[in-house]
Amino acid sequence: MNKFIPQTDISLKKKKKRWTTKGRQVEDKYLEEIKKLFSNITIKRDELIEYLHLLQDNFGALYDKHLVALSIITNLPLSEIYEVATFYAHFNIIKNNPSFKPIKIVRVCESLTCELFGAQKILEELNNLNDENIKVVPGPCMGRCQVAPTVCVGKNYVDNATPEAVKNTIKANKFESFIPNYTSYKEYLSKGGYVISNKISNNEISKEQIINILNESGLKGKGGAGFPTGKKWEIVSKYSGLKYLTINGDEGEPGTFKDRYFLETDPHRFLEGTLIASQFIKAHRVYIYMRDEYPSVIEILKNEISILEKEKIIPDNYFIIRRGAGAYICGEESAMIESIEGKRGLPRHRPPYVAEVGLFGKPTLVNNLETIYWIRDIIENGANWFSNQGVRGRKGFHSFSISGRVKNPGVKIAPAGITVQELIDNYCDGMAEGHTFKGYLPGGASGGILPSSLNDIPLDYGSKELDDEGCFLGSAAVIILSDKDNMMEVGLNLLKFFEEESCGQCTPCRVGTEKTVKIMKQRLWNKQKLEDLSEVMTEASICGLGQAASNPLKSVMKHFGKELNYE
Ligand SMILES: Cc1cc2nc3c(=O)[nH]c(=O)nc-3n(C[C@H](O)[C@H](O)[C@H](O)COP(=O)(O)O)c2cc1C
Ligand code: SF4
Ligand code: FES
Repeated sequence: MNKFIPQTDISLKKKKKRWTTKGRQVEDKYLEEIKKLFSNITIKRDELIEYLHLLQDNFGALYDKHLVALSIITNLPLSEIYEVATFYAHFNIIKNNPSFKPIKIVRVCESLTCELFGAQKILEELNNLNDENIKVVPGPCMGRCQVAPTVCVGKNYVDNATPEAVKNTIKANKFESFIPNYTSYKEYLSKGGYVISNKISNNEISKEQIINILNESGLKGKGGAGFPTGKKWEIVSKYSGLKYLTINGDEGEPGTFKDRYFLETDPHRFLEGTLIASQFIKAHRVYIYMRDEYPSVIEILKNEISILEKEKIIPDNYFIIRRGAGAYICGEESAMIESIEGKRGLPRHRPPYVAEVGLFGKPTLVNNLETIYWIRDIIENGANWFSNQGVRGRKGFHSFSISGRVKNPGVKIAPAGITVQELIDNYCDGMAEGHTFKGYLPGGASGGILPSSLNDIPLDYGSKELDDEGCFLGSAAVIILSDKDNMMEVGLNLLKFFEEESCGQCTPCRVGTEKTVKIMKQRLWNKQKLEDLSEVMTEASICGLGQAASNPLKSVMKHFGKELNYE
């Protein structure tokens, strides 16, 4: 006790008085608002991104005081909430503003096709808008490249946009999404819908039959990697215990819009395919990951899934929709799984592969939305129905998303092995008026660029001719370029996309994309440095984003060298 040092008047005066716990304090008003908003919700850690959406949908933005309150009711560290919220481009965090005016976001697509059609000019004009409740930001491809340029006003898309059309939409307060006409549950049912899934659940079609059909059909995943679907289903179904099915509806590859097209026209064909896949692997639950850029698709899915629940075709809460938040990297399957778990979308190191250790650490089947869309038709019509549709010795067909300098762009279902020239001539009514074919992207931003002189290459997964040119089909997003397009600018646009979307987890990709863009912005390019950076990114990046990021640059240097200016 002798050693006890008594507090003196002086020491007491020096001491800083603290009346609250350390850290940011929650304010009652905001806590009450959040409690009210979440009154019917049972808090689950993996739903953090859904909660952030709920806040943003309600208040127009993520106000920091609401985030403090969210951390109290979820019992999650505030730092974790910020970490997740700031990872995703669609979350707009702002300091509290006493008047609390909801902010509307206007996103101007600045990816390649929209840029070809004048996106930068629109962005410049809209930046002069004098409206404190409107925030204008650039954004990556919104999956509407066939009607470029496109601008998203709140949740409402202005296609073939002009600054005037966007301003009129804002003036008219038209911020909500538009639901197109699509095949309803009843119509789908009347045309043989849910017969195949019924037969499977009644054991009239065996698992063996399904695998044989899928393998013989030659169906390969439509998400970009082209992995044989039957094989993947077999691998996952062999694991015992709890398993999950996850559907990849992220569709972030610039130039791709096929998944949106299928869900906006015939959602039940996809939902029946989902049911079949879940029955096949005996999935505990199904998570459908949909990009936030597709609000009408999310609405359609919600409505149609609730019909399936009412009709007792699926149990309640068996199909769960998870909304993305504007991060291209979340299309990579392991990053998507992280995002479904409510975290930042950082790709995982492999092995283990997600088929073995996936969602919530359990074996998981990941399929692209379109892959699943064709399942009913292939089982119903037989393997040959699909495989016979290829040309030049290829199997099946692809749903090409075609945009750029053609007369009639859109989703074109065409045989695997078709050439770009055949696509332009026979599916798109030729080149747009006043444009001469100069080059094309066979597989979105990642798949490289080819000159028109290579217009006879068969387009398919594993096409040796594409491979020899360092290109690939990916999600079959074909962008047509013309004599009016500047290849230095095309290359820069694509590299800027990868720089923006790199998750930053590994140095070759994070720093490599940034340095490459810096050089490509110069009037004269440093060839040696660009080649070095490209090699490091390709060889040393963790995931496909960094590995493919320099593809457009390599292609431009290889095929369009005459148009480039080097130091
Ligand atoms: C950077 C990156 C982005 C990707 N984006 C998507 C995507 O938006 N949609 C998709 O289905 N697959 C995407 N993939 C491929 C997925 O990782 C995965 O291969 C696919 O979802 C599997 O489904 P599938 O076998 O049916 O194609 C992406 C891959 C990478 C590396
Ligand atoms: S390659 Fe790029 S996107 Fe992929 S993990 Fe590394 S930093 Fe992230
Ligand atoms: S919507 Fe703009 S490039 Fe796709």
